[in-house]
Amino acid sequence: MSQSKSSTVAPVVLQGDLPPRGWTHRHLLDLEELTAEEIRLILDTAVMFKEATQGCRKKIDVLSGAAIVNLFFENSTRTKTSFSLAARRLGADVIDFSASTSSLSKGESFIDTAKNLEAMGVDAVVVRHGTPGTPHLLASHLDVGVINAGDGPHAHPTQGLLDIFSIRERLGDLKGLTVGLVGDIAHSRTARSNLWGLTKLGAKVILCGPPTLVSDGWQEFGVEVSHDLDAILPRCDVLNLLRIQFERQKTRPFPSVREYAHLYAMNQDRLRRAKDDLVILAPGPINRGVEVTADVADCPQSLILDQVTNGLAVRMAVLWLICGAQRNGLTRDSSEHKGQK
Ligand code: CP
Repeated sequence: MSQSKSSTVAPVVLQGDLPPRGWTHRHLLDLEELTAEEIRLILDTAVMFKEATQGCRKKIDVLSGAAIVNLFFENSTRTKTSFSLAARRLGADVIDFSASTSSLSKGESFIDTAKNLEAMGVDAVVVRHGTPGTPHLLASHLDVGVINAGDGPHAHPTQGLLDIFSIRERLGDLKGLTVGLVGDIAHSRTARSNLWGLTKLGAKVILCGPPTLVSDGWQEFGVEVSHDLDAILPRCDVLNLLRIQFERQKTRPFPSVREYAHLYAMNQDRLRRAKDDLVILAPGPINRGVEVTADVADCPQSLILDQVTNGLAVRMAVLWLICGAQRNGLTRDSSEHKGQK
């Protein structure tokens, strides 16, 4: 589609109440704090945005005039880009804050920085930080919506949502499905957000990886723990293959990457021994040859790039719900988070 041709297409206008009934959160900090109904509301809203933006119609100007700040203190390809694109598709302005060139380098505090951005009239802050709890800290100081785009190993709610969206799109209702989260559970914010979202929607979760990266203590959250991928493989409807996060580890959790791949990488041999309709996810970035072989990453059962496509629709839904609720005075949880200051 050429630029001149697409610019002649009128933007889709959403019909009905804005925002949808049922959403009252000022912030999105983790899936732990959402009900199953609220998770379904986000997923259903994302379906609407995905369908509405397929084909030539890419823009839906329901957040025209809003401003979204991307406050990323850790690197990102998918999350930052898709939040930016999602905001633009909704008609909002986007500010990509650069920590390294900001006045943080002159000693300004993180909270003062955020409060100055808020004073410019932004509508929501999308934050990624290496320290767990940073989005919660921001939420306790700001009146505008805070969206967690990943806080250390703690939570990555929009990744959990897009993973669940992708499973639901391929396999339908999650109730009764068995989902294996395989790899570096100890350092994975994606694992935690998947765990909350999947169990709330009725899926059975198995955490699988080396004992140094998957503690038996996880069982108290109502999930199964296994250290043997080959043993759980025949029971799984979905495998979500998590990257080994060497950057967060103080000591090496296994003798060699080769040994890890031998025991836990998804490869053609394991694919043959799995259910015929097994679905393979990976949050990305993927390390081909470590958690998944290259051929399996690119096979028809892999939803790795579908996840990225779906992430855009999920982030449109989240931005619309958070900003829409705030614009319409429907939020109820600002005092809760403010009370944690
Ligand atoms: N999955 C994910 O969060 O990717 P990025 O780190 O590239 O944003």
